[in-house]
Amino acid sequence: MKRKKNTRLVHQGINRSIFSETSEPIFMTSGFVYENAKEAEYAFQDKKKRFIYSRYGNPTISVFEERLASIEGAEKCWATSSGMSALFTILMSYLKKGDRVVAARALFGSCHYILTNILPNFGIEVVLIDGQDLNLWEKALKKKTKLVFFETPSNPCLEIIDIKKVSEMSHRSGALVVVDNVFATPILQKPIEMGADVVMYSATKHIDGHGRVVGGAILSNNKFCEKYIQPFIRNTGPSLSPFNAWVLLKGLETLDLRMNYQVKSAKEIINYLTEQEFVSDIFYPFNKKNKSYNLAKSQMLAGGTILSFTINCKSSLHKKKAFDLLDNLKLIKISNNLGDNKSLITHPYTTTHHRLNEKEKRSLRITKNLIRLSVGLEDTSDLIKDIDNSFNRVFRGKK
Ligand SMILES: Cc1ncc(COP(=O)(O)O)c(C=O)c1O
Repeated sequence: MKRKKNTRLVHQGINRSIFSETSEPIFMTSGFVYENAKEAEYAFQDKKKRFIYSRYGNPTISVFEERLASIEGAEKCWATSSGMSALFTILMSYLKKGDRVVAARALFGSCHYILTNILPNFGIEVVLIDGQDLNLWEKALKKKTKLVFFETPSNPCLEIIDIKKVSEMSHRSGALVVVDNVFATPILQKPIEMGADVVMYSATKHIDGHGRVVGGAILSNNKFCEKYIQPFIRNTGPSLSPFNAWVLLKGLETLDLRMNYQVKSAKEIINYLTEQEFVSDIFYPFNKKNKSYNLAKSQMLAGGTILSFTINCKSSLHKKKAFDLLDNLKLIKISNNLGDNKSLITHPYTTTHHRLNEKEKRSLRITKNLIRLSVGLEDTSDLIKDIDNSFNRVFRGKK
């Protein structure tokens, strides 16, 4: 009988050593030893299933992979050294010269960089579109396409893309569908159940959740992983370290609890921001004013822990007031990271998305008065007080 999600988050994949430890052991070893030469020969011939070398696989990494795959509902998970190496592995293992990729434009900065600066060097055509517009997907997918990539909700304006419909259209065109599910996490959204072929994570974010390590993951079916991901990772080495795998494993144990609390807190902060005259737009999947509200409701269990908002002042003061608002916070920390237990705030225009040109920024609504907040585990009333104090100082001239 399959156990419930919260039980699997704590127990799935555990493989106790001869010492019967409670918590999963960390196998900090690069290699493994053999009883005799024959055993080594069989291991390399795949006649004996066992660990060979930690670039290929490691017992601690395996527990993390099995646990995350179970939560995602995927046949297989491959852990990687970062979210970016997860994406790079998917793209470089599957694509070849002459292939075409269609992606939504609203992407994390480094994902955008790989698509627009690296793939074209290998003779791969990349078409970026507004991922919210199904007509644009239909048009772009008329031409033979090998892979489709999008992030939903997107960073930083939380655009929502219709996973089911885009997957159907992409499959008709023969394309593999890859979804960056970082903002939603496997707790709030299951792209594979909605038709996606591959899901990727920056495990650095909510999966760790304590701001400790960098890591990533690729989830898909056995066939795809065996053919593309396994040989690529084994031979090129974007493997996760066993120590980081252990840290991420501990992160998974509390992921559901943390997500539920942080989502609740995010909702209360949105209620507060809605009342503020100095806030104009609020970007959040479950904000009723969001044009994709119904779509978000249909594919996510909750709106997530991240929200963005714009401040309302003269446009010549946008950057100054945004910086002042951040600088006057005492509890919420300025950081480009997200998904942490600590609430983190950033100005995407000058940080995470600074490399985009003005036109790209405008089309993604990344303006100088946009602020992104990743809500942590602090008491919500302390967070609201901190934001309110900063608003008072910056906009109401109070000390
Ligand atoms: C949506 C999204 N995808 C991918 C990444 C890259 O992950 P990593 O920093 O673990 O390489 C990030 C990092 O911020 C992200 O926000």
